[in-house]
Amino acid sequence: MPIGIIGGTGFSQLPEFDLHREEVTTAFGAVTVLSGSFADKEVVFLPRHGAAGRLAPHQIAYQANIAALQSLGCTHILATNAVGGIREDIEPGHLVVPDQFLDFTRQRPLTLAEGSDEEIPHIDVTDPYCSYLRRLIAEQAWEAGLVVHQDVVYVCTEGPRFETPAEIQMFAQLGGDVVGMTGVPEVVLAREAQMCYASVGVVTNYAAGITGQTLSADEVHELMDQLRSRLLALLTGTIARLDPDADCLCPFK
Ligand code: HPA
Repeated sequence: MPIGIIGGTGFSQLPEFDLHREEVTTAFGAVTVLSGSFADKEVVFLPRHGAAGRLAPHQIAYQANIAALQSLGCTHILATNAVGGIREDIEPGHLVVPDQFLDFTRQRPLTLAEGSDEEIPHIDVTDPYCSYLRRLIAEQAWEAGLVVHQDVVYVCTEGPRFETPAEIQMFAQLGGDVVGMTGVPEVVLAREAQMCYASVGVVTNYAAGITGQTLSADEVHELMDQLRSRLLALLTGTIARLDPDADCLCPFK
C-alpha cells in the first residue's frame, strides 16, 4: 500500500525523485498525483496547492484529494503545513506536530458523505491525528537535531488573508498554539476515510501581533525555501521507518 504525502506551501514538487504523474478520477473531481518510490517505499505525492503552488487555501479540493489517496489504497498520510507561531516559544524555523485542532474555517466541505444516503458521518475526532505517525515524525526530527514541539493545538482559519492581532489573541486564549489555513478539513476527511494522518507544521513566522511586525506571503515562502531540504530529509526518514502495521489509537484500527 502506498504512503500518501500531501505537500503544503513551499513543498509542491519533489524533482529529486523518480515519480510519474497519474490522473485519478474521484466523485469530487480529478486529481493529479505523482506516484513512485521514495525512501524505498511506494508513495503517492499530492501537492495541496497544485503543481504550480497557486491554489489558495479555500480553493483546494480537499474532498477530491483525500478521495484520490483513498482510491489509490493509501492507509497513511503525512502532510506538511506552513504555520504561524502563536506562542512565543514556537519560533520561526521550528517544527510542530499538532495533536488537536480548532476549526475556524467557514465555507469548506465538511464530509466525504455529502449528498449520499450513507449513514450520517458523526466520526470520532478525540485524537484526530494518528498517535503513531506523530511519534514517528517527532522522533525523526529530534534525531535530526530539529526543534520540534509536540501536543500542539493547530488553529485553522479560512484565509487567504492573514489574521488580525485581535484574532490571534483570541486564539491564544482558546488554547491555540499555531495558526494555518489548510489543515482542516483535510485531517477530518482523512479520518472519515479511515486513513492514519499526521502533519508536520513548519513555523514560517510569528502570528500577527506577536512581534508587532506586519506579515507577508513572501516571508512565509522565504522561510519554507530555507527549511525545504531539512523538511525533505525529515519526511524521507519518517517514510523509511514507517511500519504500516504499527499500532496506533486511531478508532478504525
Ligand atoms: N497565519 C495563517 N497561516 C499561516 C501563517 C499565519 O501566520 N503562516 C503560515 N501560514
